[in-house]
Order: sequence, then C-alpha cells, then structure tokens
Amino acid sequence: MSDTQLENLFANNKAWSESMNAENPEFFSRLVNQQTPEYLWIGCSDSRVPANQIIGLAPGEVFVHRNIANVVVHTDLNALSVIHYAVEMLRVKHILVVGHYGCGGVKAAFYDNRTGLTDNWLRHVQDVRDRHEVKLAAIDDPNERVNRLCEFNAMQQVVNVCQTSVLREAWARGQSVTVHGWCYSLQNGLINDLKVSASSREEAMERYRDAVEKLR
Ligand code: CO
Repeated sequence: MSDTQLENLFANNKAWSESMNAENPEFFSRLVNQQTPEYLWIGCSDSRVPANQIIGLAPGEVFVHRNIANVVVHTDLNALSVIHYAVEMLRVKHILVVGHYGCGGVKAAFYDNRTGLTDNWLRHVQDVRDRHEVKLAAIDDPNERVNRLCEFNAMQQVVNVCQTSVLREAWARGQSVTVHGWCYSLQNGLINDLKVSASSREEAMERYRDAVEKLR
C-alpha cells in the first residue's frame, strides 16, 4: 500500500476543512460539543441520494440511516437503534423516510433479479410489491411501474417506523415527533411528498390507506 492512496480524497478533505473554517471559525468547535439535529433521515444507500445536500442542511443538522432501498424491518437492530437514539436521545422532531425513483434495489426486487445475498434483504420490498400487485399490474410503462413501487415502498416503511416500539412509546408519553414519507427524483433533484405524514400510529394507518387509494 502506498502512502499516496486516495490522495485526492485527503486533498478534498483538507480543502473542505479550510473552507468551513474560513466561512465560520467556530464551526468545528461548536459541533464538537454536541449535535442537535431536528431530523432523522432514513434513505437509500444509493450514492446519488445524499441526505444533507438534498435538503440543504449542514453537518450536525440531520441524523442519517441508509440502507439498500430504505427498508425498515422490525428485527433490524441497526435501524431500530438509530431510530431509538434519534427519538429518545436526540429528540428529533421529524423522521423523513425517503425513497427515490429509479431505485436499483426496488427494481431488482420488482423483477426478481438474482443478485446474491441482497436478495434476502429485498424480500421485504417484494412483500410490498405483492401487496400492491393489482395496482402495479395496471400500469403499462415499466419505469412507471417501478417508480410506483418506490412510492409504495417508502409509504410502507413509514408505517413500519410508526409501528416500532420506539415510536409507540414516544407517542404514549406525549413526545411530539412526526414521520414523513417522501420520494426523491434523480431526474430533477426534487422531493415528492407522498402525503403520509403521521404523528400517531392511528394517523399513520389512516393516511397510508388514503394515499394508497388515491394512487391508481
Ligand atoms: Co435506491
């Protein structure tokens, strides 16, 4: 291994650090002491969907969890721990579940493409696909069909977040935290609000049903 490996990244890092310092000399010293993000972002690992940049937030302003196809499973200790820490320790006010159109994971799930280990993970997206089989089959354009599944998947993950013990307990003790479902477009960089925002488990189920009904 040479010492010059990934030299460009270190150069980028140095330049970034210097520019942040130049802009605000207290930037790092202020962040060192604490983070007080108001948002938890749960999104896809896709390199084209970077949380902070898309919503224009600086380091310290959004707590982030990403995995393939932005899936929230009740047995995933990693996701549950992130949600727990965000809600109970950081006291975030909003949880943003963000899918994206043209998601490779969703597409692979839709077409039953075999990729190996990841197939097991994407089974969760296939559950969403199978639940909405009739609506999806009614869409002629194959890209539109996958994009609709990207929306259904994000909406389902909102419900899953709302059903976690973390959220149920937070709401039971009167903590104010709202869960939102969004879908991001790689084509124009804009976020589509899927209109399933919920501040209680009941509201989540109700808004989910309404939103699914409205989609053809
Ligand atoms: Co994706």
